[in-house]
Amino acid sequence: MYLEQTEPLAPEEILQELQALVEGDPDGIACLANAAALLSLHVPRINWVGFYLQRGRDLVLGPFQGKPACTRIGPGRGVCGASFARGETIVVDDVLTFPDHIACDAASRSEIVVPLVVRSQPIGVLDCDAPVPARFGAEERLLFEGAARIVGAWLEAAEASV
Ligand code: SME
Repeated sequence: MYLEQTEPLAPEEILQELQALVEGDPDGIACLANAAALLSLHVPRINWVGFYLQRGRDLVLGPFQGKPACTRIGPGRGVCGASFARGETIVVDDVLTFPDHIACDAASRSEIVVPLVVRSQPIGVLDCDAPVPARFGAEERLLFEGAARIVGAWLEAAEASV
C-alpha cells in the first residue's frame, strides 16, 4: 500500500516547500515531523518515510509517516545503521538482496537512507521505503539529500536539539 497523497510535486518544488515549512518554528521535533509529512504527501509510490535519531550507540525511531516501525536499530545494523556509520547515502534497489536489511514492513522492496548532519556531525538518518523495486534513482537521491540538508541546516541555525 502506498502512503496517501495529495499531488506529486517536482523535487525542486518539494524542497522549496520544505524550506518554507521548517522556517515556521525553531523546534526540532516539529521540523522533523513536518518534513516527514511533506515528503509523504508529495513523493509518489512510497510506503514509509521518516527519521531515526542517534541515541547513544543506537538509532531510535523519530517522526515518520507510515506503518509503525522498529523502534531501535543497533550500531551499523540494517540499511539505516550502515548509512549512519558510513556517513553516506545508501540506495537499495531490492531489499531482499541487502543481507542485513531490517524488514519493518514486509511490503517494502526498495529503500533510500540519507545521513542527517548537524554541525558536520551525523545525528541520525532520513529513511524512505517503497513497495516497488528500484524506486529511488538519481532524482530521488537529490531530493532526499536536499531534504536532509535543509533539515540539518535548520536544526543548526535554530540551535534545536532532537
Ligand atoms: N529497513 C530499515 C529499517 C527501518 S524501516 O525501513 C522503517 C533498515 O534496514 O535499516
